[in-house]
Amino acid sequence: MTEVLVTGGAGFIGSNFVHYALATRPDWRVTTLDKLTYAGRLENLKGALDDPRHSFVRGDITDAAVAGCLVERADLVVHFAAETHVDRAIHGAADFIKTDVFGTYVLLEAARRATHLRRFIQISTDEVYGTVPDGSSRETDELKPRNPYAASKAGADRLAYSFFATYGVPVCITRASNNYGPCQFPEKVIPLFITNAVDNQPLPLYGDGGNVRDWLHVLDHCRALDLVIEHGVDGEVYNIGGGNEVANVDLTHQILDLTGRPASLITRVPDRPGHDRRYSLDTTKLRALGWQPQVGFAEGLRETVQWYQANESWWRPIKQSNAEFQSYYATQYGERLRLS
Ligand code: NAD
Ligand code: TYD
Repeated sequence: MTEVLVTGGAGFIGSNFVHYALATRPDWRVTTLDKLTYAGRLENLKGALDDPRHSFVRGDITDAAVAGCLVERADLVVHFAAETHVDRAIHGAADFIKTDVFGTYVLLEAARRATHLRRFIQISTDEVYGTVPDGSSRETDELKPRNPYAASKAGADRLAYSFFATYGVPVCITRASNNYGPCQFPEKVIPLFITNAVDNQPLPLYGDGGNVRDWLHVLDHCRALDLVIEHGVDGEVYNIGGGNEVANVDLTHQILDLTGRPASLITRVPDRPGHDRRYSLDTTKLRALGWQPQVGFAEGLRETVQWYQANESWWRPIKQSNAEFQSYYATQYGERLRLS
């Protein structure tokens, strides 16, 4: 059996990856290490929690005692755990530095001493390239992160590379574009706008709505990671982009169409500070390994809307009775919506 450690496996992409791995890799035994921050939810692992090939450990990646012993047992580490929301990073970056940078360092130190680790996947992001006025980012492009989340991820990305270059840790780094799909915490734009639309609440569109993101279905992301795990080359970086560049205002109209809600719900609010205008990835390198996205954006978005419509019991408690979320929402949107 291959022993796989998944950090952040109770979050959005991590939990989708755990389900994908258990379903497609009968020879994998998966351990999820997750702190269960506001974004980590055990219900994301429903089904996996009863699987004899999966175990869950609640713990912090910055805790060397826990991380060290789990990394030591692993053949493969897939490191998703991070603070992930740009707007929260703008309010305060301390947890981003602690988890995304220092936590990654703790895992890498353990990986350096591990005896049979064959791959350490560092989950990075397209945000490390910064805003892309034209063309598409290639893996060799300069990193120019422009917000504290992106900067902390860039730190982790290069730290992982340094542990390959210096100590020979078998690191591959993946830089994915914006993911969407089931179980994404409703602070990110797609689940926030879907659930606000369901409730006939305003959709707070930042700035002129012309910012562009490249949308990647979470299952296409999982398939790409699988390929990099098996066929990636140590020390290399792989972009993972869906090839679906959409301006936020167009995305918002698509969500309104799919939920049957009026355009009058769109509420233009003051922009996010330092808001990157556009991300775009060149995925030639990954495609050469044999990957291509399988989920079209129109179909993937429709299914995602249907998932949130069918799973109100997943998101309604977060939005309606979770004090942490309500306090975040008031801080992030209260004044913005008043000014609009
Ligand atoms: P998420 O916020 O949904 O989940 C993060 C998970 O990490 C949560 O389960 C949380 O409890 C856990 N976690 C946070 N701090 C921890 C700590 N100190 N110790 C252990 N666990 C901790 O995030 P996501 O959207 O699933 O993103 C997963 C990874 O993918 C992140 O590294 C993120 O930077 C990267 N990424 C995300 C996207 C995207 O569009 N969501 C795109 C590219 C890359
Ligand atoms: P988000 O989901 O936060 O992802 P990221 O910042 O990592 O790209 O935001 C996606 C885009 O949607 C981004 O351009 C900001 C915009 N956005 C809004 O217009 N309104 C919102 O309420 C949110 C959360 C995001």
